[in-house]
Amino acid sequence: MTTKPPRSDPGAGAPMKDWYDAAGVRGGTRRTFHRELEEGLVFFPPELVPYLAHEAVRTLPDSASRELTVRHLYQFLLSATELETRVVNRGAELIAGNRLGFEVPRSHRLDAYKIYCDEGYHSLYSLDLADQIATVTGIPIPRWDYGGFVEQLDLAAHTILPDEPTLAHLLQTIVFETLITAVLNEVPTNPGVVTAVRDVTRDHARDEGRHHRFFAGFFHLLWSQLEPALRTRVGHALPPLIEACIAWDAAPVRSSLLLAGLDEATADGVLRDVYGGTATASRIGAVAQATRRMCESAGVLDLPAVRETFAVHGIE
Ligand SMILES: [Fe+2]
Ligand SMILES: [Fe+2]
Repeated sequence: MTTKPPRSDPGAGAPMKDWYDAAGVRGGTRRTFHRELEEGLVFFPPELVPYLAHEAVRTLPDSASRELTVRHLYQFLLSATELETRVVNRGAELIAGNRLGFEVPRSHRLDAYKIYCDEGYHSLYSLDLADQIATVTGIPIPRWDYGGFVEQLDLAAHTILPDEPTLAHLLQTIVFETLITAVLNEVPTNPGVVTAVRDVTRDHARDEGRHHRFFAGFFHLLWSQLEPALRTRVGHALPPLIEACIAWDAAPVRSSLLLAGLDEATADGVLRDVYGGTATASRIGAVAQATRRMCESAGVLDLPAVRETFAVHGIE
């Protein structure tokens, strides 16, 4: 990165200014799961578990579908624990620790430490809820690697921006924190979902709304600090970085399908149909809209051919 003099930070502090009163980690309630309150409810909306509708999965007994849904929830929760502490907080700490190669305004450093606290708490309650559900339902949390995507992300970052590892990690954090995922929006308002799952998701969504505004603003500051040549490289690096952040980790799904009784060939066929081909491409456009708007407003898309690179990756 550069050593250009720091600019003022208009709006810094605003997204996180109520943090001491509003953040979940400051005043939130521990959410508890009770079997007796959950009769007839689902652990995750079936429309957000795309393989449940696959013809090879529909033939499974109801008990296997229920276990698949619970393990999908486990993957959602446990991948969040990995994402928050290993990816988002890696970027938050770079900002908070003032280790970006330019002087980070004090207000941004303070906000980044608030986010660091939030994400640690999100990891805690995500694992806590999975643990409670496993205890009550008797459906164990399989000892799989729920953070395999972190290595894949690091590999992608190294390929896309090989000589800028710090910047690549920071951009990954900004991308993750500005993507709009259906889960955080839809689960809290779905009355058919188990209450503790809705409550935890709502708690998380509230914090993430503040994070989103902080990182969208921070991106503008970061962008102002990059030299022109690096701006162009970052402009072309962002779409593949976004794509890498959106890719779903299929390994735990495959293991879950095998556990449900599918043979290996059938499980692989389900994964191909549900996550392969154009599935990620069709999802990326919707999930990355807010990230794209952030780039647009910072001027990223005005650089030569960058708009085309976004379009090639399905972000338009
Ligand atoms: Fe979070
Ligand atoms: Fe966050």
